[in-house]
Amino acid sequence: MRKIQIAIDGPAGAGKSTVARQVASNLNYLYIDTGAMFRALTYEAIKANIHFSDAAGLKKLLENTEIHLIQDKVGQKVIVNGEDVTEAIRSQEVTNAVSKVAVHKEVREEMLTRQRFLAKNGGVVMDGRDIGTCVLKDAALKIFLTASVEERARRRFEELLSKGVSTNLDELQTEIELRDRQDSEREIAPLKKAEDAIVIDSTNLSIQEVVNKILGLVKERNG
Ligand code: CDP
Ligand code: CDP
Repeated sequence: MRKIQIAIDGPAGAGKSTVARQVASNLNYLYIDTGAMFRALTYEAIKANIHFSDAAGLKKLLENTEIHLIQDKVGQKVIVNGEDVTEAIRSQEVTNAVSKVAVHKEVREEMLTRQRFLAKNGGVVMDGRDIGTCVLKDAALKIFLTASVEERARRRFEELLSKGVSTNLDELQTEIELRDRQDSEREIAPLKKAEDAIVIDSTNLSIQEVVNKILGLVKERNG
């Protein structure tokens, strides 16, 4: 079977990373979580006390930041300059700041180069916001995965609860809406459905149903 590139974009909490990981595992493809790369840089910026509006400072920081995404049986590990930041990059502080870091041209250009390099051999599932519109414009399969904002907030709430973190559902929804707005309204590579992307609304679908739909589309692409 031909090894293709699969791009999965969509708003926060739509299920992109969960689904992308399972599709990749099923096809024996590489999974690349581009959001984790922006989160890793944001985490480093907080540590180095670099302001989120300081594009030149962020660019320099990124040049000195090695980001490794490592797949293992239980999930993905994110290693930054040798430090395991898998958990740390999911903190509320990073989540609240990441869209401000991701807005800069200087940051996005370097991320784009790294992401294209990672995907160059095909056999890859990449998820993010601008994969189908920008990073992998020629991907053989593009998915725009979405769900109602209420359902996405509910999923995040349940996810945090399962980790023992109790949060406020309304606050989570407001945070998600704000991040989606920032990601959709930025000038460079905004969150947007690619013209040739297939929309999957997962509001009433299980993870397995979404995975099966995508695997079916991969089969179609491969004739
Ligand atoms: O998993 P979650 O939906 O919370 O977000 P993520 O995929 O970890 O991405 C975090 C943030 O990184 C997004 O809200 C965007 O601001 C930024 N991002 C981006 O600008 N472009 C990408 N390709 C991926 C993420
Ligand atoms: O990557 P993204 O922000 O789009 O979403 P995610 O982190 O993959 O999924 C957010 C949460 O929703 C996870 O806890 C998933 O298990 C859950 N989920 C679900 O309950 N039903 C789906 N159809 C998809 C995801």
